[in-house]
Amino acid sequence: MTVSSKANSEKTILVLHGPNLNLLGTREPEVYGSVTLAEIDEMLAGHATTKGFSVYSSQSNHEGALIDMVQEGAMSSEGLVINPAGYTHTSVALADAIKAYPHPVIEVHLSNIYAREAFRHHSYISPYAQGVICGLGVLGYRVALDALIELL
Ligand code: DQA
Repeated sequence: MTVSSKANSEKTILVLHGPNLNLLGTREPEVYGSVTLAEIDEMLAGHATTKGFSVYSSQSNHEGALIDMVQEGAMSSEGLVINPAGYTHTSVALADAIKAYPHPVIEVHLSNIYAREAFRHHSYISPYAQGVICGLGVLGYRVALDALIELL
């Protein structure tokens, strides 16, 4: 799924969602809430527009596809909001791609990963993110977008 609110002269923020986030709304709603990914993307696109920014959102369950999108985003975007989901805790390759991304990055998690299983406490991504937001649910995405806009 890909949502774009691009207008020619606007700066574009890339929003990437990792594996299983396409199931938001029905996946463990007690942990991740009942808002769908489409609703999150719509909210972000609308919010960015009010600030004169465009959002390009995409989700993939595939590590390589996410890496491709980060690499391509180096040219086509000015900042990145990413919820790497399960790859947060496993992917050196995605971390390397984010390290090479030349613009600010905010890492987002819906849940408080530090209040969950021990294997979720480590992020390969965080060393390369300007900021990390977790535990605020959907609000975290909006806070991340606002932070990125301020940084830009
Ligand atoms: C998540 C937290 C991860 O540990 C998990 O694998 C996810 C979602 C979150 O948004 O809280 O898929 O990134």
